Amino acid sequence: MDDEASSFGRELLAGLARRPRSISPKFFYDVAGSRLFDAICELPEYYPTRTELSILAERAGEIAQQIGPHAEIIEFGAGSLHKVRFLLDALKAPRRFVPIDISGEHLAQAAQALRADYPGLDVQPLVADYTKPFSLPREAEGSGPRVGFFPGSTLGNFSPDEALAFLQGAARALRGGGLLIGVDLVKDPAMLHAAYNDARGVTARFNLNLLVRANAELGADFDLAGFSHSAFYNAPHQRIEMHLVSRAAQTVNLLGQSLHFAEAEAIHTEYSHKFTVEGLRTLAARAGFGIGPVWTDRERLFSVHWLPAAQ
Ligand code: TRP
Repeated sequence: MDDEASSFGRELLAGLARRPRSISPKFFYDVAGSRLFDAICELPEYYPTRTELSILAERAGEIAQQIGPHAEIIEFGAGSLHKVRFLLDALKAPRRFVPIDISGEHLAQAAQALRADYPGLDVQPLVADYTKPFSLPREAEGSGPRVGFFPGSTLGNFSPDEALAFLQGAARALRGGGLLIGVDLVKDPAMLHAAYNDARGVTARFNLNLLVRANAELGADFDLAGFSHSAFYNAPHQRIEMHLVSRAAQTVNLLGQSLHFAEAEAIHTEYSHKFTVEGLRTLAARAGFGIGPVWTDRERLFSVHWLPAAQ
């Protein structure tokens, strides 16, 4: 087993030994999972991606003005690199772009496509888990401010403690620059529910892909028909919770261990916290950021914030 498989295996066993059982969402994104995620972003029910893109497209000029010239852009959890194009088009002479993602293969493909379209830009992809400490490449000669780009409401996929820790780390790493962050806003629970329970079942397949991966990479024997996708809005905690629920009592073999699942037992796979504008600003201030402008769409579905980091 290679290193990547063994760290997946170790974390999977540890998470499934916990009660409630859980699997870290960072394991969603192998090549198949990244493709399914791209498909989610185009679903009619999944409004966040197109809404955030429309905000970035309409407000790119104002955003670029906040950031200033010669910026070095660091994107966390970079994925397919569609969104940053709006930023790169509006920025004055961006110096370097460092997309960070855990899915190396997907990142390399996306970086290649970006290089082809931005021949003057220094693109340096970094395969890393940004939920753990990692080091950034040295600042390029003559570069302007370091700017973090964290779209897609990925901050909401952390627990509140992890979100604060991530923002504290970012405020330190981005000193003198800032963070451009997109977060989904609280809204009608029915609309939230639909976004994570699409009619075509793509989100369900994305969720179940964790088990497909465990079978393919670790030789586990999860019965894919034996688990169902469950996603619901937990209003008091302002979050969508995603789980895989065992349809019956069953035993699964994983890396030499037999794991017993009771009927209806759930494996937690992801949170997607929703924010108010004020809530996000309060959290950012606690992490040491200043407060800059916020841009939203007309229906106030989604928000993009500029958070300056002190010198
Ligand atoms: N961060 C986004 C969100 O929480 C995208 C995302 C992450 C997502 N994991 C997901 C969307 C699983 C649907 C299902 O909405």
